[in-house]
Amino acid sequence: MKELLGLLAVWSIVLSGLALLAGLVLIRRGNRVGHHRVMLTATGLAALFLVFYLAKWGLYGATAYGGPEAWRGAYYFLLLTHTLLAALNGPLALYVIWRAFRGEFAFHKRWAKVLVPIWLYVALSGWVIYLVLRRYGVETEGLTF
Ligand code: HEM
Repeated sequence: MKELLGLLAVWSIVLSGLALLAGLVLIRRGNRVGHHRVMLTATGLAALFLVFYLAKWGLYGATAYGGPEAWRGAYYFLLLTHTLLAALNGPLALYVIWRAFRGEFAFHKRWAKVLVPIWLYVALSGWVIYLVLRRYGVETEGLTF
């Protein structure tokens, strides 16, 4: 069950990043309806990631890094930036979507251009963290990193 939750979490965040890229291509081609649908799908997938990730964390605790010492700093930098930017991504995405639904596309575009790189970084770093922990993860009971 633990492995399944981890796998579901990483797939939903990676797929949300891919849907984001597809949404960008669609709007560049002028397909507003396609853009709208695919971006809402990307948002749903990101929300699913949060559900799977929190379920795994709540049920089984955190996984600590147990890899080479030389990489520890780089790993924690990745984990910290991933976590902080993931927390920022949620409210920013809701704001960007809200502006779009109100038809305020100048605001929508301005903030979407800040949001997209953050979202892609979160998706990519989430995948890298998953791979690192699959190789070097050490199980813990509580909140310890
Ligand atoms: C988190 C979700 C979304 C993201 C990240 C996003 C991202 C973007 C980006 C980056 C652009 C600018 C593209 C460019 O200039 O080349 C854009 C434009 C646009 N988006 Fe979204 N979008 C999202 C959701 C939506 C939704 C839900 C709608 C519709 C209700 C929508 C409607 C539009 C429209 C109509 C434009 C073109 C605006 C114009 O050119 O004046 N977007 N979006």
